[in-house]
Amino acid sequence: METNIVEEKIKKRKTTENITVLEVKDICKTYQAKNGEIEALKNINFDVKEGEYISIIGPSGCGKSTLLSIVSGLEDQTKGKINVSGKIGYMLQKDNLLEWRTIYKNVLLGLEIQKSNTEENRKYVIELLKKYGLYEFKDKYPMQLSGGMRQRVALIRTLAVRPKILLLDEAFSALDAQTRLMVTEDIYKILKEENITALMVTHDISEAIIQSRQYETC
Ligand SMILES: Nc1ncnc2c1ncn2[C@@H]1O[C@H](COP(=O)(O)OP(=O)(O)OP(=O)(O)O)[C@@H](O)[C@H]1O
Ligand SMILES: [Mg+2]
Repeated sequence: METNIVEEKIKKRKTTENITVLEVKDICKTYQAKNGEIEALKNINFDVKEGEYISIIGPSGCGKSTLLSIVSGLEDQTKGKINVSGKIGYMLQKDNLLEWRTIYKNVLLGLEIQKSNTEENRKYVIELLKKYGLYEFKDKYPMQLSGGMRQRVALIRTLAVRPKILLLDEAFSALDAQTRLMVTEDIYKILKEENITALMVTHDISEAIIQSRQYETC
């Protein structure tokens, strides 16, 4: 299967030093399936500079999630090389909230895993919960929240570890238009303030264009 990921550098934020924070070199991924091999990615090459917001657009099944999983280190590539400098935050296509943990406990998960569940970081998490209108829900469980709220919880969990590179897999697709505008504007501010680099994948061209333009203007 020919990979038809179209890399679109919709946004290019000028940085003083133009440091490359992510290099994707000749990445190939072949899955072994029951009916044979599936070539999910073939010779993918691109660089991302510090502070850029990159959108990669492609139809369903073209290998977008596979690419992000490889960049994050969750999956191995069949061929090629990834060079990353900086901590990665990965917001997956599914929210993967743990149903047996409260919202507060869910957003602390990354910090616990990284052994950085400090008072300062907990304060930051509380700030984010307040900002995204989830503070009153902090003692509830994921099943008591709407899809959009769950997605915001997943985002807070990702931002809590203060990543330098943020991977977003259709991260805002479950949000209604109004909430999406509010959430993305806030995220873009955080990205710019913290000089976080973002790599987003989506199948929705208009979403990529709207969000990238919003990023530029906020
Ligand atoms: N673990 C796996 N085992 C076998 N095949 C897989 C596996 N994961 C993905 N694939 C296949 O690899 C291809 C790319 O899948 P991927 O999930 O990366 O696509 P995608 O672009 O993210 O799609 P979508 O927009 O629907 O999320 C598909 O053909 C899929 O069936
Ligand atoms: Mg996907």
